[in-house]
Amino acid sequence: MAIPEQVIQEIKYRNDIENAISNYITLKRRGKNLVGLCPFHNEKTPSFTVYPENGSFYCFGCGVGGDVFTFTKLIENLDYIDAVKLLAERSGVEIPQDGYDDSMHRLKNTVYEINREAGRFFHQYLMSPKGKTMLDYLLGRGLTVKTIRHFGLGAAPDSWDALIKHLTAKGFSIADMLQANVIGQSSKGTFYDRFRNRVMFPIFNIRGNVVAFSGRVLPGDDKKGGKYVNTSDTPVYKKGEHLFGFNFAKANCAEKIILVEGNMDVISLHQAGFTNVVAALGTAFTDEQAKLISRYTKEIVLIMDADEAGQKAVRKAGEILKNTGLEVRVVNIPDGKDPDEYIKKHGAARFDALINGALSEIEYKLSNLAKTIDVLSDSGKLQYLSKAAEIIAQSNDDIARDLYIGRLCNNFDVSRTALESKVQKLREGKQKAERKKEIKAIITPHYGKDDVNPERRNSPRGTNAEENVIAILLQHPDLCDTAIKALQEDDMLTSLNRRIYKKIIECYVAGIAADISHFGESFSPAETGYIASLLNGEKGSLNAQAVLSDSIQVILQEKKAKNKALSQDTTVDDWADDLKRLIENKQKGNKNNG
Ligand code: UTP
Ligand code: MN
Repeated sequence: MAIPEQVIQEIKYRNDIENAISNYITLKRRGKNLVGLCPFHNEKTPSFTVYPENGSFYCFGCGVGGDVFTFTKLIENLDYIDAVKLLAERSGVEIPQDGYDDSMHRLKNTVYEINREAGRFFHQYLMSPKGKTMLDYLLGRGLTVKTIRHFGLGAAPDSWDALIKHLTAKGFSIADMLQANVIGQSSKGTFYDRFRNRVMFPIFNIRGNVVAFSGRVLPGDDKKGGKYVNTSDTPVYKKGEHLFGFNFAKANCAEKIILVEGNMDVISLHQAGFTNVVAALGTAFTDEQAKLISRYTKEIVLIMDADEAGQKAVRKAGEILKNTGLEVRVVNIPDGKDPDEYIKKHGAARFDALINGALSEIEYKLSNLAKTIDVLSDSGKLQYLSKAAEIIAQSNDDIARDLYIGRLCNNFDVSRTALESKVQKLREGKQKAERKKEIKAIITPHYGKDDVNPERRNSPRGTNAEENVIAILLQHPDLCDTAIKALQEDDMLTSLNRRIYKKIIECYVAGIAADISHFGESFSPAETGYIASLLNGEKGSLNAQAVLSDSIQVILQEKKAKNKALSQDTTVDDWADDLKRLIENKQKGNKNNG
């Protein structure tokens, strides 16, 4: 799948990286570059850098980087080809239809169309006289017709082929319907509607396309299949990557987002005016979902059911969210109801109070801790206070720490100084560890690099030399000739650098500049970040020619040393023999002495 090189360059030329990125974040000039707050991780001081000179960007905080296509892909949550197309559209560049294979792209479009058409079909059925039972069910649960329209809710007829017939009449093929997963195929080979006699909830992606469905049984019909039937993975839908309601919530969640369990919770909360609510669609909350959310909001409020499963889900979500930099709070719904029931019973104002008085993470952890320790006994009390001090020390909020220390002192009748100094000690330890990490990040030229290239461990010296070579060739393509003669692709020690080197040489041989746009399609954002950091770093800026040949020598030496080590690798038998000889010699020596 390749869009012609000239077209890519044309699109890139017309989508100046500085302007493109400024559409999303505020950039400030710093020398010839620009900096801003990284949109891909949470930060307070800008480490996101844009290099207009060569059309690249790199974040020193999270290591993400690349060109205008990578940026668009990430920020718009698109795949590479769609990002190229979006930028082409924005700048009026026509992408020739022949000359590249866009069958995947076409399939995706067809699946989107099938979903849209199916969604329309279900909605119309719900609103027709035949859909009355289903509509009554939804109205009975307190939804208004306006809400039903807003969420595009629908109903699947009690039929094995109503949708197949409808979609066939609209000109869609069976093969494409299977791809969209709206139909299934029986073992006998016949095709059937996957959703039958169910209330249908379309699932939208963040751009508002229908990507999947969730179909709920009517009460009393529970025996047929599960409570919900969901679309499996399709070319446009991957379980765990979407959130129910996010297409609506994304515009209303700058401050905070609320995560609930059920689709019905989302809908009834939106209806009550809480338009920042989403649900994880029947999966455990995933890293992808956390990342998605963290780009749009500062804080997440978790509302999980009071049962054991819900509590487990909270703990897991907490773990996943820990690395996003988001503020996390947990709300327990009193008397074990779900949010949908709670708001119906107590109204919006009370729900709002509940959300705003949501337990902070500290409170939540402290109250959980209290459940596991017998705080009435002296030893239990001590144990509780010592664990509680650890929890409090984790908070970077001075006032919050002060508040909880005060509270504990009152409740447990201990001296404030003692508890304070304990927390203080723990914090000093924590700060030391953090500083160490920071320093390490500074000495390591690019943060997170070891994750990008884990093989560095095997040969730090060689990897360093590889990076010199790559940086130099990116900055001085004219030196590729020298490199080709002295360094084979297979000489590269680490597989990542081997792939990068290969690509650079390929570009050179094809007579095109190996600029960063060639890496976006087959390298991950962390990898293009690594490439961008080499392109823009100090490496390769001075004495390029000399550093290049020295570095190549180092790589070849390291490779030789590695091969030698491999061939000399003594087997266990050799080693046992050596040992035996050693012992015999020693015994001989003893005898001679004796
Ligand atoms: P719930 O059982 O809490 O459903 O499951 P709900 O949406 O609140 O439905 P009501 O209120 O009983 O009508 C929570 C979520 O878990 C997923 C769905 O996304 C559901 O919204 N789920 C549940 C499934 O995917 N499959 C199931 O069989 C059950
Ligand atoms: Mn429910």
